[in-house]
Amino acid sequence: RDDIVILGIETSCDDTAAAVVRSDGKILSQVVSSQADLLEQFGGVSPKDAKEQHSKVIDQVVQRALDEANLTEVDLSAVAVTIGPGLSLCLRVGVQKARRIAGKFNLPIVGVHHMEAHALVARVAEKELQFPFLTLLISGGHNLLVLARNLGHYVQLGTTIDDAIGEAYDKTARLLGLDMRRGGPALEELAREGNAKSVKLKVPMKHHKDCNFSYAGLKTQVRLAIESSNIDKDTPISSTSCEDRSIRADIAASFQRVAVLHLEERCERAIAWAAEIEPSIKFLVVSGGVASNQYVRTRLDHVVKRNGLQLVCPPPSLCTDNGVMIAWTGIEHFRQGRYDPPPPADEPEDAV
Ligand code: KG4
Ligand code: ZN
Repeated sequence: RDDIVILGIETSCDDTAAAVVRSDGKILSQVVSSQADLLEQFGGVSPKDAKEQHSKVIDQVVQRALDEANLTEVDLSAVAVTIGPGLSLCLRVGVQKARRIAGKFNLPIVGVHHMEAHALVARVAEKELQFPFLTLLISGGHNLLVLARNLGHYVQLGTTIDDAIGEAYDKTARLLGLDMRRGGPALEELAREGNAKSVKLKVPMKHHKDCNFSYAGLKTQVRLAIESSNIDKDTPISSTSCEDRSIRADIAASFQRVAVLHLEERCERAIAWAAEIEPSIKFLVVSGGVASNQYVRTRLDHVVKRNGLQLVCPPPSLCTDNGVMIAWTGIEHFRQGRYDPPPPADEPEDAV
């Protein structure tokens, strides 16, 4: 069916997002409300604060998504919503909203796995992308290498044994005094000014011949490097001297080089492993917030080309958390008949 239209709602982390997508891949609207300002102001957001923020904006985010798509609820085929993984308090805000709409307008509901959505949204950007494909999902909370054999059929080749790469970017950005509203991107920018070989850092898990990841040790190495450097740690980067800035840039570049080398090594091995299971594999999909990093994209493109594959990276707005990926994954499942019936119109709010 080519005429499916789905509203996707995402509240698993600290962005409240909604979008309307059609089954031919057309994005009819996309709205994201970010909590980054709160993060900067308070140095972090508790699950309770995050939940309150979601509750405050969810109605207007969804309404804007419908308005920008020039639709009302009756034009929808179904509502898709993230059901995990994520903070349960936050997830519930999205699920309650989805059930409210679905109950009122008699629409089916598709529950979506956040990480599956990060992977499948690549099929919106790249129409040639068919199963099976290999995917590297890199975000603030996850670091996964997955062989996607078919819709709903995933083989995990590797995961992190401690932190995810996005978390390491964020921690390093904080230690370097960067703007925490955009820790990852700010570090990427600063790294462009630095010498990536100036600070000696070890690539994690060199002796583990598997596809798992570890970023906790690298975080510690960077912290020690910063502590033993001459930078003025209490000053934000915007107000430091040229010399201080260039030391920070060197640390940023060195961190980024090693963090990404770890990805490169694991991908290289996963490509060989995946080819044993699925010899017809042609694509590596890289998605999740960190996949919007240009250095990451360029380095992984080399790995992929060396191995005769093709790299697919969704555009940055579809790599970081968004509603499009939820709506699109909803479409993929809905097409296969995988959805729940509409909830009762008078379902009490606290039923979920
Ligand atoms: O997928 P995402 O939006 O949310 C989660 O599901 O975690 O990923 C957010 C993560 C954050 O750690 C953020 O710093 C990182 O992605 N990130 C980046 C870049 N843009 C976002 N990391 C490095 N370079 C970037 N350009
Ligand atoms: Zn995410």
